[in-house]
Amino acid sequence: MTVDWEAVYQREQAAGARPGWERTEANPALLSWRGGGAMTPCRILVPCAGRSVEPALLAQDGFDVTVLDNAPSAIAAQQAVLPAGAWTVLADLFAWEPAQPFDAIYDQTALCALPPELLDAYVARLHRWLVPGGRLFALFMQTGRAGGPPFDCPLDRMRGLFPGHDWLWPDMLEVSVAHPTGMREQPAILTRQP
Ligand SMILES: C[S@@+](CC[C@H](N)C(=O)[O-])C[C@H]1O[C@@H](n2cnc3c(N)ncnc32)[C@H](O)[C@@H]1O
Repeated sequence: MTVDWEAVYQREQAAGARPGWERTEANPALLSWRGGGAMTPCRILVPCAGRSVEPALLAQDGFDVTVLDNAPSAIAAQQAVLPAGAWTVLADLFAWEPAQPFDAIYDQTALCALPPELLDAYVARLHRWLVPGGRLFALFMQTGRAGGPPFDCPLDRMRGLFPGHDWLWPDMLEVSVAHPTGMREQPAILTRQP
């Protein structure tokens, strides 16, 4: 199913509501990564950023943030809250290339929003957009059902999508976090192999 994300933002905004995927507070996994020192200020990309609150938090914390989304409402919302110096890109991620690779990428509900047949192409971009040794801070949505979005991102499928020769996985995964939809997200920090 193809989603007109811009239409969803406009419809929800007109109704004084929020899309169901939006968090009003920062993702607890991101706060844990920040608090525990796993995520330190660097040049970071947030693809499919939507109107999420995390980019502004990271920018305030000294990260050099770039947000990317193809919905004009989402980019306008980010521009309204991001401090000077942060970068906003209104583009289809499949038709965009950064001038230089990033140290880190934060993927929150991007993987699960994209049609499954595009995931190989998306992951190839994540790999290309990171410096060797760069890290992908991923939240794998666990829906336990067919169809979407959000599309299920079970770990066995994610291990196939992010194979060990391209991505170093942690020995142990963190505890999953609750999503406002009632689903759970599995946090994982993957390191881009050279
Ligand atoms: C489920 S929303 C998640 C937004 C945000 N990450 C959050 O947690 O609130 C998915 C977002 O991906 C964006 N998106 C979907 N396909 C895209 C594409 N091909 N290029 C850029 N952005 C895309 C949509 O506009 C939408 O803002």
